[in-house]
Amino acid sequence: MNIWWSSIFLVAYLSHALSKSFKCSVINEAGFCFLENVVINDPASSKTLDFPKQQILLIKSGSIPNFSKEIYAQLPGVRLLHMYNNTAIRKFLIAVSNLTEINLQRNGLIEFDVETTENRNLKTLTIVHNAINAIPKNIRYLEGLEKLFLYNNSLDYVDLELFTNATSLKVLSLYDNFIKTLDSKLGLRFSNLQTLSLSKNKLSFIPYFVEAFPALNAISLRKNPWNCRWLEFAMGHIEARSIQIARKDAVCRHRWVGDVCCYRTVVDFLFQAQGEELRNDREQLLKLAQENRDLKDVVGRLNESVRKLEERLVDNKADGEV
Ligand SMILES: *[C@@H]1O[C@H](CO)[C@@H](O)[C@H](O)[C@H]1NC(C)=O
Ligand SMILES: *[C@@H]1O[C@H](CO)[C@@H](O)[C@H](O)[C@H]1NC(C)=O
Ligand SMILES: *[C@@H]1O[C@H](CO)[C@@H](O)[C@H](O)[C@H]1NC(C)=O
Ligand SMILES: *[C@@H]1O[C@H](CO)[C@@H](O)[C@H](O)[C@H]1NC(C)=O
Ligand SMILES: *[C@@H]1O[C@H](CO)[C@@H](O)[C@H](O)[C@H]1NC(C)=O
Ligand SMILES: *[C@@H]1O[C@H](CO)[C@@H](O)[C@H](O)[C@H]1NC(C)=O
Repeated sequence: MNIWWSSIFLVAYLSHALSKSFKCSVINEAGFCFLENVVINDPASSKTLDFPKQQILLIKSGSIPNFSKEIYAQLPGVRLLHMYNNTAIRKFLIAVSNLTEINLQRNGLIEFDVETTENRNLKTLTIVHNAINAIPKNIRYLEGLEKLFLYNNSLDYVDLELFTNATSLKVLSLYDNFIKTLDSKLGLRFSNLQTLSLSKNKLSFIPYFVEAFPALNAISLRKNPWNCRWLEFAMGHIEARSIQIARKDAVCRHRWVGDVCCYRTVVDFLFQAQGEELRNDREQLLKLAQENRDLKDVVGRLNESVRKLEERLVDNKADGEV
């Protein structure tokens, strides 16, 4: 082979190695560009990735073990990014970009992180049917969030304070996790939150329920070990405000409040025992007060007698003067 041909092959090989071009396998009526077998191993080399100029990308399969900031730089015109099923992702960073929606389903993802720069573009974040075990603190930088779907993951704790600045949040979907604690604090308000999905978790109550969600119009509660006292209180509010309860419990081994099952916990028994003690104390007090009143009467009457006695003595004295 002469030297010319070799160099042409070399140039062709190099440009192929340096730039990776992805083509839509299908574009559906909704404008989704489907991509298959997207393999990006080294994010540093992703300066030369060539994605289709479609606004909606759906990556169906492939391997992107480290979805980092560099990859976002290759997606300037993309608005919606979906990655389904067989796209193996180990590390996932949500970086500031023009994306308004990110949707990750069934990627076996355990964690994700968010770039520490205010991001007002991303409106919808869906990371579902994965294995996310914690919400990263940096999610607080997603200040434009309107819808957050994290259902069917492995969350056991959610700190609502992280969403303080996501003032447009309308939908928070957390069902099918292991959430024991929905952490909040007095004064925290989600003035636009309309839908709160909490079914299939391990919750016993929602802190500041009435104060925190003034715009709530739909809630799902089933399959949680709700505390009966809290649920009774919450149900009063739900009915008064005509908040819709999406789906109901089918079975209940303990007690129903409306169509939702609840549990009487040890705390309940303590409350009740304390209540009984208080009732006893109150009776004691009432009795004492009663006795006290009787005592006062006695004193009063005695005083009266003494007064009369004194008067009589004075009278007698006067009489004796004669
Ligand atoms: C992922 O890529 C980023 C940016 O290139 C790099 O800083 C980071 O170390 C990579 N992480 C892993 C686990 O490879
Ligand atoms: C967002 O889009 C604009 C215009 O389409 C582009 O110039 C810019 O680089 C994009 N920004 C990012 C972070 O991709
Ligand atoms: C997910 O991957 C499996 C195995 O490759 C395949 O059978 C299934 O159809 C895929 N599901 C979706 C929703 O793409
Ligand atoms: C929940 O997610 C797991 C993967 O983590 C998946 O195997 C399972 O099918 C999902 N459950 C439902 C009801 O889709
Ligand atoms: C919300 O924004 C305020 C003002 O920019 C900032 O001080 C505060 O730390 C932010 N809160 C969260 C949870 O990010
Ligand atoms: C007893 O009567 C006197 C005058 O009649 C009165 O000043 C005093 O407060 C009374 N004491 C009691 C304990 O009722």
